[in-house]
Amino acid sequence: MTRVTGRPQSRFVCQACAESFLRWEGQCRACGAWNTLVETVVREPARRKAAPAGSRQLDEPTALGAVHEPAVPRQAIGIGELDRVLGGGLVRGSLVLVGGEPGIGKSTLLLQVAAGIATAGGGSVLYATGEESAAQVRLRAARLGLLDGAPAEGIRVVAEAEVGRIMEIARSERPGLVVVDSIQTATVDELDGPAGSVGQVRESALRLMDLAKGEGIAVVLVGHVTKDGSLAGPKTLEHLVDAVLSIEGERYAALRLVRASKNRFGSTEEVGVFEMGEGGLAEVADPARAFLAEHDGPAPGSVIAPTLEGSRPILVEVQALVAPGAVGSPRRTASGVDPNRVALLLAVLGRRAGIGLASHDVYLNLAGGLTVGEPGLDLPIAIALASSLRDRPVQDRTVAIGEVGLLGELRPVSGLERRLREAARLGFDRAIVPRATRDASWTPPVGMEVIAVGSLGEAVERALVAAPAREASASARC
Ligand code: TYD
Ligand code: MG
Repeated sequence: MTRVTGRPQSRFVCQACAESFLRWEGQCRACGAWNTLVETVVREPARRKAAPAGSRQLDEPTALGAVHEPAVPRQAIGIGELDRVLGGGLVRGSLVLVGGEPGIGKSTLLLQVAAGIATAGGGSVLYATGEESAAQVRLRAARLGLLDGAPAEGIRVVAEAEVGRIMEIARSERPGLVVVDSIQTATVDELDGPAGSVGQVRESALRLMDLAKGEGIAVVLVGHVTKDGSLAGPKTLEHLVDAVLSIEGERYAALRLVRASKNRFGSTEEVGVFEMGEGGLAEVADPARAFLAEHDGPAPGSVIAPTLEGSRPILVEVQALVAPGAVGSPRRTASGVDPNRVALLLAVLGRRAGIGLASHDVYLNLAGGLTVGEPGLDLPIAIALASSLRDRPVQDRTVAIGEVGLLGELRPVSGLERRLREAARLGFDRAIVPRATRDASWTPPVGMEVIAVGSLGEAVERALVAAPAREASASARC
């Protein structure tokens, strides 16, 4: 389908931003990166037109109400947590990117997706892998128990990374789903750059988009994520695809969170919670409590926060460790939360609540490898820091949630009722929340004592167990 026109031309393509130049230069003039230009032979591929699925060309403006609703044919995968994230299943003709660190479980998840589609009657699945041999895919399928029934027949494996060949096979076999594992190993014959280079990744993705839109086949690309958490390859990949799913979690822990950071056919709010086990990724029965660490009773530095991921409340444990620092600048480490947010909270605690941590080393962590971006985590983080500093645990069965402003003021969070109901269900009976919440019309869950506090200092005092009498005066000086 791709027309090849003109003589081969050589271009120097920046591996960081994909800008191309006629001559080699030490620094890319577009993005400023050094030594990123790589000579690439380019034969201009045919111009392509890719209309979004379900749309048609409108020449005349049309009244919004009269525009035809696009048909969005979905195929449920049969893995509830994943269907939820996708907004009800895979959309035919859509291009989906699944990103995650190496070893997090991308190939495992996609083999399970392939099996789901084959079992649910969504047609056959073409699984093209440039990372492994067909025999290795079979081995994994055997470990996942997918070698009987529909998946054994319905999943067609090919160890092929050349996109033209993959498209040829897809056009003749007409599967319901094509999986390309991974986009970093995919190549296009007309380009000379190595697999994984910006040119190859972008052109491969563009052609696979043609396949998806042109043939109405769902195409899922696997994408590796670099250390800093961005998708390897050009940023343009994220703009190109219809949905970006990312698999998060700690590689050596079992829990995995699947999140949609972009979704043209659904919300980006929902998360799916899985556990990696013997049989691959299994859905977690009670996601709200999945990230709660198991330990006996409250420990200093630990605070439970009822967070909200989309419409789903998830209880997470904030863990802080504060220790007197050596001479020089103290260490600050935060995983699962924004380190800048933690720096800000340390400053606010010092200036507005008299809890000075300037000379202390601070380590902060969310149990279970979860990453939470919502500002409601401010108050639990602040309480955890104070709790560790004073070596006083938070009172039993207590949760805390709220945003902290620069002036030390506390702001309410959305969906408080839903969060507290879930906390109550899991056995918590005290909640520290910002006072402003009280004005809103809502009813606290039965049996839950809601403590509305006006300041950071008050929140810390109400949250922690009382200080032993003779230490009280000492800790007041901290
Ligand atoms: P994999 O899907 O190969 O990761 P990716 O494609 O993202 O690089 O999975 C890697 C890890 O998952 C590997 O360390 C082994 C583990 N695993 C299990 O624990 N159980 C299983 O059933 C399977 C298939 C893998
Ligand atoms: Mg893999």
